[in-house]
Amino acid sequence: MPCVPFALLLLPAVVARAPNILFVLADDLDFDYKQDRKAIMPHLRERLADGGLEFVNHVAVVPVCGPSRTSLLAGRYPHNVGYVANARAPSVAAWSKLQNDTLGRWMQRAGYHTAFLGKYINGMECDVPAGWHHWGGLTCTRLHGERLGGTYNYLNASQWRANFDDAGMLLGEKQVKIWGNVHQTAYLGEQTLEQVEIAVAKRRPFFVHVTPLTVHGGTCEGPQPEEKYAFWDPYWERYNYDPTPVGPYGEGKGTVLTGSPCPTRTHAWSYNALRNPHLPSWAAFANGTVPKHIAAEGNPHGLHARGCCDAWEADRQDFVYRNRTAAARDLDDMLGVILKGLDKMRLSDSTFVFFSSDNGFHLGEHRMLFGKTKPYATDVRLPMYVAGPGLPRGETRPLPTTHLDITATIAELGGAAKHAPHPLDGLSFKAALGSAPPALSEWRDFSFSEFYVNDNTWRNIRLIDHATGQPAWAFHWWCSNQSEVYREADDPFQMANVGGDDPTPFGRSIVRRYLPATEVLGACVGGACNRMPPAGTPSANPLPCHDPGELLHVDEAWMD
Ligand SMILES: *[C@@H]1O[C@H](CO)[C@@H](O)[C@H](O)[C@H]1NC(C)=O
Ligand SMILES: *[C@@H]1O[C@H](CO)[C@@H](O)[C@H](O)[C@H]1NC(C)=O
Ligand SMILES: *[C@@H]1O[C@H](CO)[C@@H](O)[C@H](O)[C@H]1NC(C)=O
Ligand SMILES: *[C@@H]1O[C@H](CO)[C@@H](O)[C@H](O)[C@H]1NC(C)=O
Ligand SMILES: *[C@@H]1O[C@H](CO)[C@@H](O)[C@H](O)[C@H]1NC(C)=O
Repeated sequence: MPCVPFALLLLPAVVARAPNILFVLADDLDFDYKQDRKAIMPHLRERLADGGLEFVNHVAVVPVCGPSRTSLLAGRYPHNVGYVANARAPSVAAWSKLQNDTLGRWMQRAGYHTAFLGKYINGMECDVPAGWHHWGGLTCTRLHGERLGGTYNYLNASQWRANFDDAGMLLGEKQVKIWGNVHQTAYLGEQTLEQVEIAVAKRRPFFVHVTPLTVHGGTCEGPQPEEKYAFWDPYWERYNYDPTPVGPYGEGKGTVLTGSPCPTRTHAWSYNALRNPHLPSWAAFANGTVPKHIAAEGNPHGLHARGCCDAWEADRQDFVYRNRTAAARDLDDMLGVILKGLDKMRLSDSTFVFFSSDNGFHLGEHRMLFGKTKPYATDVRLPMYVAGPGLPRGETRPLPTTHLDITATIAELGGAAKHAPHPLDGLSFKAALGSAPPALSEWRDFSFSEFYVNDNTWRNIRLIDHATGQPAWAFHWWCSNQSEVYREADDPFQMANVGGDDPTPFGRSIVRRYLPATEVLGACVGGACNRMPPAGTPSANPLPCHDPGELLHVDEAWMD
C-alpha cells in the first residue's frame, strides 16, 4: 500500500480506496531533446518535474497520433488493436469494434466518473464512443452535412458535449459546441475542473483524460472569414506558400506546411527572437547506411524529394519552432489552471496527474523537414511525468516505459484491470511510483515500437543500460530489410549507424541477436510483450512493407 495522506482517510470510502486520476496527453510534444522545455513550462517544471517523477526513457509504441492514442486507450500494441495508420479504412473498421470498451469503460465499471476532453482518433471524430460519463471529444469537420471547425482549428473548433449514465444511456441531448474565437487551451482546462466538480458531487473518484491539440500543427481560423489570417498572421503567405510543391495529394502552388500550431494571442509573439536549435543531426544524414525510405523521402510529406534543409526551409522551421514554443506555453497555462483548481478543491493530495504526449517531433533532424512517424529518438521518445499522493518529488526513473504501461498502471491504481476484455500488453509501473522503485532487471529493460505504413514500415528495440539508466542502443529494422544501430550512450543524436550494409562487429551482433526478437515482439500478446525473446528464436514474422489500406477523409489526412 503506498503511503496515503491522513486527510484522505476522512473522505468518503470510495475516494479513500481509489485515487483520482488526471491524464493530460499533449500532441506532438517531443521529449525535450532541445532542452528548452522547463524554461518554457513553469507549471510542468514546478508541479510535475520538481514536484513529482520524470520517466526519462518513456517511448511511444507507435509515434503517430491515431495509432498511439488507440493503443493507449486499449492498452495493446497496434498489431493487436488493428488501428495501425491514421484514417485508413481497415484501421477505422478495427477501432469501431473496440472503441466502446477501453480504459474509460473499465474505470467507469470500477466506480469512477470518467470524462474525455479534446482530440480523438483520426477519421473517427464524428463518433461518440461509450465508456465515458462525459464526452467532450473535438469533432470531425463535416457532420450530418454541416461544415464544422473540427479538431485542427485552434480558435474555431467544434466539440461534442454529451453526458451519459453508468449504463451508457444518454442524459439530455448530444450537442455540438462551436468555439468561435476561443482557444482550445482556454476551455479544456475549465472543462477539466467542471468534470472534477461533477465527480465530487457524485462522491466518485474521477478519471479525466484531457487531450488538447497543442502543440500539433493547426489553423488560427477565427469565426469571421475576413479575419481569416490577415490580422492574425501578417507573414502567413510567406510562411505557408511553398514555391516548389510536389505534394502527395497533388497540390499546386500554395501547399500548406502543417508544422505550426496556433498559439494564443497572449504568447504568439513572445518568442519571436528564438530560432530552431540546430543540433548535430540537423540537415545531416547519419554516416553508415541511410535506409532507403529516409534517403528517398528526406522529409515526411514528400514535399522536397531532395530532402531538407535549405535556407527557405530553415526559415520556416524557425517559424514552426517559435509557434510550438508559444503553444507549449499555452499548454502550461492550461496545466496551471487545472493544478490550481485541484489545489482550491483540496484534491491535489488525492489525485495522480500523468502528463505525456502521443508522439515526438523532428524539425530538420536527419534531414527530415518536420513531423514524426520515424524510429529516431526525436520521434519515439516522449516526455512523461507523474505526480500524486505520496510520490517522491524531483526524482527520475530510468524504466523504459511506454503508453501501454501507463494504461496498465492507471488500470491498477483504479482497480480496473479486471474489467479489460483482453490481456494488457503493458506492464504496470505502480511499484516505481514509490520510494523503492524496481531495478531495470526486475521490471523490463527494453522498449519496443512499431510502424506499418508502406515504405515507412519498421520495428524498433531500445535497450537501457542497467548501470547508468541511460539508453544503451537503439536498433531499427526497416521493411527494406535494412538496419540501423545507434550506440546512444556515445551517440545521443544517432549520427553513426553501426549497423547497415557495412556493420561494425557490434552492429552485426545486435542485428543477429535482435532481428528475430523484433519479429516475435511484432506479434506478441500480453505478458510476452514484456520479456525479451531468447536468442536464436526462428524468424516467423518477417517485415514486408505494409499496405495500410484506403485513406478516408483526405481533406484531413495530412493532419496526423
Ligand atoms: C458503441 O457505442 C455507441 C454509442 O453508445 C453505439 O452507437 C455503437 O453502436 C457501439 N458500437 C459497437 C461496436 O458496439
Ligand atoms: C467557423 O466555424 C463556422 C461553423 O462551425 C463556420 O461557419 C465558419 O466559416 C468558420 N470560420 C472559419 C474562418 O473557418
Ligand atoms: C508563427 O510565428 C510567427 C512569428 O514567429 C508569427 O508571425 C505567426 O503569427 C505564427 N503563426 C501562427 C499560425 O500562429
Ligand atoms: C526482405 O527479405 C525477405 C526475405 O527474408 C524477402 O522476402 C523480402 O522480399 C525482402 N524485402 C525487400 C524489400 O527486399
Ligand atoms: C560519423 O559521424 C560522426 C558525427 O557526425 C563523426 O564524428 C564521425 O567522425 C563520423 N564517422 C565516420 C567514420 O565518418
